Amino acid sequence: MSNPVIYGLHHITLCASGAQEDVDFITQVLGLRLIKQTVLFDGRYAHYHLYYGNANAEVGSVLTTFPYRRIPGRPGSGQISATSYAVSKGTLPFWKDHLKRHKIEHSGIQERFGQSFIRFTHPSGLLLEVIEDANDTRAGWATDQIDSQVAARGFHGPVLSVREVEEEERFFIEALGFRKTGVDGPYHRFEIGSGGAGKTLVLLHEPDRRAGSWGFGAGTGHHLALDIGTDEALAEQKNLYEELGYTDCSEIKDRNYFHSIYVRSPGGILTECAAMAPGGFARDEPFDQLGMALLLPPWFEDRRQEIMGMLEPIVVPEANRPAGAQTASRLVPPPEPAPAAAGGPTASRRTNATFIGGDVPQQ
Ligand SMILES: [Fe+2]
Repeated sequence: MSNPVIYGLHHITLCASGAQEDVDFITQVLGLRLIKQTVLFDGRYAHYHLYYGNANAEVGSVLTTFPYRRIPGRPGSGQISATSYAVSKGTLPFWKDHLKRHKIEHSGIQERFGQSFIRFTHPSGLLLEVIEDANDTRAGWATDQIDSQVAARGFHGPVLSVREVEEEERFFIEALGFRKTGVDGPYHRFEIGSGGAGKTLVLLHEPDRRAGSWGFGAGTGHHLALDIGTDEALAEQKNLYEELGYTDCSEIKDRNYFHSIYVRSPGGILTECAAMAPGGFARDEPFDQLGMALLLPPWFEDRRQEIMGMLEPIVVPEANRPAGAQTASRLVPPPEPAPAAAGGPTASRRTNATFIGGDVPQQ
């Protein structure tokens, strides 16, 4: 059995409420690039699965949302509390003005581990942050209001609310290979590899906070995903979880763009490990057209009209269209992921579903 091989964050998945409201907020207020419109692959209801990222749609920058206005979630402990994006040093005054311009409720400038951040609220109640980090050189997506110098570059990391620290800490260290690098009041920081932006998890110790909901529900975080590189490492990680006694790890699932396993961490937060599939996010549309059209996995394509009829129509904002984007020079293709090894672990996929409704509120 080998040690865990985690490179950092892969993606973070949150449940928003309305779909258009989410697209508008994430692209125009947080300023990410919409990189994929697809659907949730599980369950009987058709829901969007929207992916957003930085200019290069890099692993470690990808926020995904399920617009889930059909069911409200309950924020609380045992959940992702806030999702934090790294921005350049000295840019928080811009962000304060930008949030004011959009009439967005925010925390003002605060500090954690010596880094300044602003926390603000998504229309569904989700908490997002921009945190200054002098060392992050990833390429942010520019919009008409946010230039590349001030743009969000990628994740700094999630803030995870837990009632108790000890067992979650043990899970991060023993099962995932993180190391503890600091405590600042109620915040406990864990880093992996070179640490810093995209390689950090922060626990927020909230011993008296009621547990939040675990299932899908508007206004709550659903899971975080860590980048494990290859299918082989994914299979090794599943074995490691079992060796350590975390026997509730899922089977390896085919998420079309990546392969995944999920395990519920001791503090309650659902934790995924993901390995990109060959072609990654550009496997089914050109890189400079990412996010422009609804894409279904091949096994749902013949049911496109039925599925689309259950979804709220959305309009991609002008700044996310290739013609409107100001970042043509940055539209470079991402590196090709390594092809899956022959004879490697096989991933399961659900190829059939009976949809009984869409993303409209229940009566
Ligand atoms: Fe995920």
